[in-house]
Amino acid sequence: MPDLSVNFAGIQSPNPFWLASAPPTNSGYQVMKAFDAGWGGAVWKTMGIPIVNVSSRYGGVNYKDKRLVGLNNIELITDRPLKDNLRDIEEVKKYFPNHPVIASLMVDSRDEWQQIIKDVENAGSDGLELNFGCPHGMCERGMGSAVGQEPKILERITAWVKEVATTPVIVKLTPNITDIREPARAARAGGSDAISLINTIQSLVGVDIDNFVPYPVVDGLSTNGGYCGPAIKPIALNMVKECAMDPGVGIPISGIGGIENWRDVVEYLLLGSTTIQVCTAVMHYGFGIVRELTAGLEQYMLDKGFNSVDQMIGKALPNVKPWEHLNLEYQVKAQIEDELCIGCQLCYIACEDGAHQAIRLNENNELRIPSIIEENCVGCNLCSLVCPVDNCISMVRTDSGKKIETWHQRTEKGSIPTTWNDKRAGGVGHWIPEPKDALKQDKKEL
Ligand SMILES: Cc1cc2nc3c(=O)[nH]c(=O)nc-3n(C[C@H](O)[C@H](O)[C@H](O)COP(=O)(O)O)c2cc1C
Ligand code: SF4
Ligand code: SF4
Repeated sequence: MPDLSVNFAGIQSPNPFWLASAPPTNSGYQVMKAFDAGWGGAVWKTMGIPIVNVSSRYGGVNYKDKRLVGLNNIELITDRPLKDNLRDIEEVKKYFPNHPVIASLMVDSRDEWQQIIKDVENAGSDGLELNFGCPHGMCERGMGSAVGQEPKILERITAWVKEVATTPVIVKLTPNITDIREPARAARAGGSDAISLINTIQSLVGVDIDNFVPYPVVDGLSTNGGYCGPAIKPIALNMVKECAMDPGVGIPISGIGGIENWRDVVEYLLLGSTTIQVCTAVMHYGFGIVRELTAGLEQYMLDKGFNSVDQMIGKALPNVKPWEHLNLEYQVKAQIEDELCIGCQLCYIACEDGAHQAIRLNENNELRIPSIIEENCVGCNLCSLVCPVDNCISMVRTDSGKKIETWHQRTEKGSIPTTWNDKRAGGVGHWIPEPKDALKQDKKEL
C-alpha cells in the first residue's frame, strides 16, 4: 500500500486528511471520534476571548436535488470556555499522540496572542493556526479577515506569534481579497511555517422574500456570513495554485474548500497542498467520509505508481501557464455520437443562442439528432458541457498537432495587432458606423 503519511512544516501526520477548524472540531469527543474513523489531524475550533453566538446561524444553497452545494454561516469562534478546550486537547493528545492537533487561535493584542499560545502549547497542541480569515462578526472587532486583508498587520501579528511559539505556525488566509499572494507573502515574511486556505467567502445566501429578510434570520434581522462547501472549490483551488506557484510564498500549504471526495483531495495535492482540510462535507455526511477519501486516494496512488503523498504534491503545477503561453494552433471540434444521442437538443439551443451557431437540427423532425457545422465550431466545449448523456459529445482534435504558436510568440514577432493604431486592427480613426447607416438601402451610399 502507498504511504499516506505526510510531514507538514514539521508536523507529522498519518495521512493528509485534516478536519478544518469548525463545528466538527468543537470538542474532544468529536475529535477523538474523528481520529477513530481515520482522520489524520484536526484543527481545533478557533479559540479566543469568550464570545456569544446567535441562534439560527446557517443558511444553505440547495441546487436541484443536491443539498448544501453551498453553506453560509454567521457563527463566531468557539463559545466554550478556554479551560474546557484546553482540557479536551490534553485528553485527545493522551489517547492519540500520533495524530496532530492544531490549535486555531484568534485574539487581539500581542499579550493575548502570546498568552494563549503558551496555554495551547502547554495543553499539547502540535501546531498553531492563526485565524486571519473569518469574514463576519469577528472582523468587525478588528480580528479575522480584518487582519487577513491587511498584509502589514498580518505580518506583524505573525511575528508576535513567532516570538514565543515552540510549535509550527500556520497562517489561515481569507479569500476576501484581490490578490491572495499578498497576504501569503506577508505570512512568510512574518515567519510563518505554512499557510492554510481558504477560509469562508463573505456572502448572503438568499432572502426570505415574504418577510424581506436575508437568511439566516435572527429575530427578524440578518447579517452577511461566510460561504463554503462544494460551490467554493474552484475559487479555493485557484488560490492554492496561486500561492503554490509564487516563489515569494514558498512555504507548505494546507488546502481547504469544498472537499467532499477523494478526487477533490487529489486535485488539491496536485496543485500544491501537502494536507487538506474539510468542514462542510463532514457537517453534511459525518466523519465516515474519510473511509472513501482513504480508499480512493490509495487506489489512485496505486494506479498512478505514486509511493508517497510527497510525490504527488504540485504535480499539476508545471502544466499551469499564463494564457499568453497557450497554443493558439491547437483546435478541437465537437463530435456527436449518434447512437448515444437522446435527441433532447439542449446542445443545439446552447450553441445557437449562447455560442457560435455551429449545430444544425435535422430537417426531418422525426430524427432529433443534431449535427455539427464544422466550419462554425470554435471548440468552446459548451455543447459537451450541457449534453446530459456522458460521452455523447466529444471534443476531437482537428489540427495537425505539429505547430505550436502562442499569443506571446505572435506578439513577439509582430504578426498580430495589439493596438488600434495598427492598420491590421482597423487603423487610427477606424470607421465607426452610425446607427442610421444601417437603415440605408444601398450600402454603396456610405
Ligand atoms: C459553521 C462554520 C464554522 C466555522 N468556524 C471556523 C472557525 O472557528 N475558525 C476557522 O478558521 N474557520 C472556520 N470555518 C471555516 C472552515 O474551517 C473552512 O475554512 C471553510 O468552511 C471551507 O471549507 P469547506 O468548504 O470544507 O467547508 C467555519 C465554517 C463553518 C461552516
Ligand atoms: S445534448 Fe446530447 S443528447 Fe441532447 S441532442 Fe445534443 S447530443 Fe443529443
Ligand atoms: S463546441 Fe461550441 S461552437 Fe462547437 S458546436 Fe459546441 S457549442 Fe457550438
